[in-house]
Amino acid sequence: MNIAIVGSGYVGLVTGVCLAHIGHRVICVDNDPEKVKKLRQGKVPIYEPGLEPLMLKYMKKKQLSFTTSIKEATQKATVIFIAVGTPSKKTGEADLTYVENVAREIALHIDSYKLIVEKSTVPAETGKRIERTIKMNLPKKFRQGGRINLEFDVASNPEFLREGSAVEDFMNPDRVVIGVESKRAENLLREVYKPLKTTIIVTNINSAEMIKHASNSFLATKISFINAISRVCDRVGADVLKVAEGMGFDKRIGRSFLDAGIGYGGSCFPKDVDAFIRLSEKSGYDFHLLKEVRHVNEQQKAAFIKHIEDKLWIVKNKTIGVLGLAFKPNTDDMRNAPAVDIIHMLQEEGAKIKAYDPQAMGNSKKILRGVQFCKDPYAAAKDSNCLLLLTEWPEFRALDFKKIRGLMEQPIIFDGRNLFHKYNLEEVGFEYYGIGRGK
Ligand code: UDX
Ligand code: UDX
Repeated sequence: MNIAIVGSGYVGLVTGVCLAHIGHRVICVDNDPEKVKKLRQGKVPIYEPGLEPLMLKYMKKKQLSFTTSIKEATQKATVIFIAVGTPSKKTGEADLTYVENVAREIALHIDSYKLIVEKSTVPAETGKRIERTIKMNLPKKFRQGGRINLEFDVASNPEFLREGSAVEDFMNPDRVVIGVESKRAENLLREVYKPLKTTIIVTNINSAEMIKHASNSFLATKISFINAISRVCDRVGADVLKVAEGMGFDKRIGRSFLDAGIGYGGSCFPKDVDAFIRLSEKSGYDFHLLKEVRHVNEQQKAAFIKHIEDKLWIVKNKTIGVLGLAFKPNTDDMRNAPAVDIIHMLQEEGAKIKAYDPQAMGNSKKILRGVQFCKDPYAAAKDSNCLLLLTEWPEFRALDFKKIRGLMEQPIIFDGRNLFHKYNLEEVGFEYYGIGRGK
């Protein structure tokens, strides 16, 4: 099939490359000419494991191309996915300006049947608005006498890709959700995903949009729940890792997304929870539960800082080494990374920060001021009064902690992701503090 993806960011690019991989001819659009130039040269602008070799393979096979022109993409493709960003407004509501712009521009260039699919996370009823925008902006020849004489469909197909394992998630989804209002749209989307051999959930557009909101909110709730449990564990001398394990064996609960830490970050959960709270409020329902989820998430960072203050006593003028900056491992993404707030809070207290991340240093330099970025974890540890583990990159497990202890001013580790074994670190002479491991 001929498919276009508008917006070639973390979601759009992975979707485009993977759709080529399952046999389609894909044209990816982005309104950033620099990005498109790089993509055409075969350079992937983000760090996402497994993406680059696939992208190069399908570019070579001429199954994957890049353009800045929505016109070109609209004319070449039958199915057009919209995957542009949906940033937050001050109120927490999703800003759909980019989605509207894209819908309008697609309308201007439609010349035959098209299926327009929203991939970006959007509030319920956005599908209807996209449809209306397209109808109102179709060329005059298709709008004679107040009647539309061109067929098109709008559908919703939310993404559930996790950064860092997005290619794997695309190829092996738990399910594909398609929200449609016509059989033609349903059949086309079934055709798109046929090679994946997965369960396809078909529903109307509003329900598909709600599935995305409900899923992300539920996952965020799971994380805040275990983070709240971790706070109690600290107080009563229980170990949250064992608690999560014990709970997780119950099939009704499941072990995943029960890792206590410094709170969820990234481009989705914080923004989507805000947007869903706002959407519910506007519809007349006060989603108190989700407000508390957000509150617990914020508290988790503050509690981490308090723990550091408690053990260091005075933070001012202390040197603090930071391992890991990205909002999760295997990505270079710094959007809403908890490390940013934590570093800012420590800087406000007068701490000197030295930091290292395997992939996110470039993006970190754009948003963190006054941080000394180091070439490796050992350089970050050198002369530090304590070390913070903020992203659980697997390679940090294999560090030489004897060497690190020798480099540090004081051998104290605050493990914000429970990556290390307390016993192992204590054996080489560290004071070790995890999250919810009991005091
Ligand atoms: C996606 C989804 O779209 C968002 O709804 C979800 O909540 C998070 O994931 P993401 O791919 O992470 O967004 O965003 P980003 O990496 O910023 O990519 C968006 C791309 O769209 C950028 O490359 C941007 O240049 C492009 N864009 C933006 C357009 O091509 N046209 C526009 O009008 C606006
Ligand atoms: C998320 C959803 O998982 C995905 O389905 C959706 O489409 C986009 O948003 P992503 O943000 O890429 O994906 O990463 P995810 O693995 O969900 O992690 C989000 C945040 O939660 C990270 O900051 C991570 O560190 C944190 N997290 C996750 C925890 O703190 N504990 C956990 O148990 C799991």
